[in-house]
Amino acid sequence: MNNRNAHIVTFGCQMNERDSEIMAQLLATDYTSTSSLEAADVVVINTCSIREKAEQKAFSLLGRLRRLKKQRPEMLIAVAGCVAQQQKEAIRQRMPHVDVVVGPQQIYILPELLQAARAKSQIRTEQNRDFVIPAFLPDMRSGNSFKRFVTIMQGCNNFCTYCVVPFTRGREISRDPRDILSEITHLVRHGIREVTLLGQNVNSYGNDRKNADRMSFALLLHAVSEIEGIERIRFTTSHPKDLSDELIHCFASLDKLCPHIHLPVQSGSDRVLSRMNRRYTVAEYLDKVARLVAVRPDIVITTDLIVGFPGESEADFDMTMELLEKVRYHSSFSFKYSDRPQAKAVAFPNKIDDRTKSLRLEKLQRRQEEITLERNHEFIGRKMAVM
Ligand code: 5AD
Ligand code: SF4
Repeated sequence: MNNRNAHIVTFGCQMNERDSEIMAQLLATDYTSTSSLEAADVVVINTCSIREKAEQKAFSLLGRLRRLKKQRPEMLIAVAGCVAQQQKEAIRQRMPHVDVVVGPQQIYILPELLQAARAKSQIRTEQNRDFVIPAFLPDMRSGNSFKRFVTIMQGCNNFCTYCVVPFTRGREISRDPRDILSEITHLVRHGIREVTLLGQNVNSYGNDRKNADRMSFALLLHAVSEIEGIERIRFTTSHPKDLSDELIHCFASLDKLCPHIHLPVQSGSDRVLSRMNRRYTVAEYLDKVARLVAVRPDIVITTDLIVGFPGESEADFDMTMELLEKVRYHSSFSFKYSDRPQAKAVAFPNKIDDRTKSLRLEKLQRRQEEITLERNHEFIGRKMAVM
């Protein structure tokens, strides 16, 4: 048992959840995990910067920690995740109570940075090294569920004009398929029966790897489904422009692949999609949806939508509403556009006022709730397997 305690707070997406598990595992050598923030010797905040609101949450917690650290000066505070990556300098200059700042690609050296911080009590950051996800087997002592996340790649090359991710998580780096398969085999040996393969855009998995050990995402899915003991496979997220026929076909050929796809559309207007740099049209998107439904009629399709992108007219927004009727998503996540530092759309003209954004969001969410209810009704009377 270690006599020092660590507490990790996680904001944001599933990638962050998995990163927090990895950090917990790395810290377990030196610290005992505690559920109490107040009693912790080390507090790690794994932050999200996808939208302005998410970032505010991290900063308000940091404010609370500033007061806590006044009472317990020996407490170490580490900021990890996307805000850490993007606001390194600001945190370093304005938040002397923060001891360590570590971006999403550098979490593997967190213990080193904490040790250095304890020795020198000054902010430590590692700016210049990009880390490839090491071959590293998950700790099976924590978590008693039957399912786990498995990160298969990091970063994003797409540069949607509203999005901060390419700046915080860097370019795409795919893990070696052998590492992924041995991680899943390890999980299965410890009783895990369902895995969710994670990446910002899993459809481009493998594109950055050399020919010899390259495997497409569809082939990776085949390989995972051959692992004995795995019962369910899920993945997220897919960029519609990269959704290949090979992958669509997996929904027909792989029994273990759950009939669900999260396929973020963002807008129902071609004009807006083009300014978002999404590189597909509504017609192309609908064609892929139709092909998915054709191979797997019971497939559940979910999406992400942004309202109030700069220059979005009433007519553009109406097209998003029409798209909801065409796809009839089982559910969707929808957001008001917010400016993110470094993203191109910050400089776009014709920003939409907050009131208009709120009205559009409310209208969209109200209609989605109705559709979700109708979709859920379709399950009444059906027999489903539950874990
Ligand atoms: N403003 C609003 N929503 C955004 N998203 C990403 N960036 C922004 C932004 N600047 C949404 C997109 C994405 C989801 C994870 O968050 O819909 O798919
Ligand atoms: Fe952001 Fe677009 Fe990459 Fe998704 S595909 S992470 S929205 S840049």
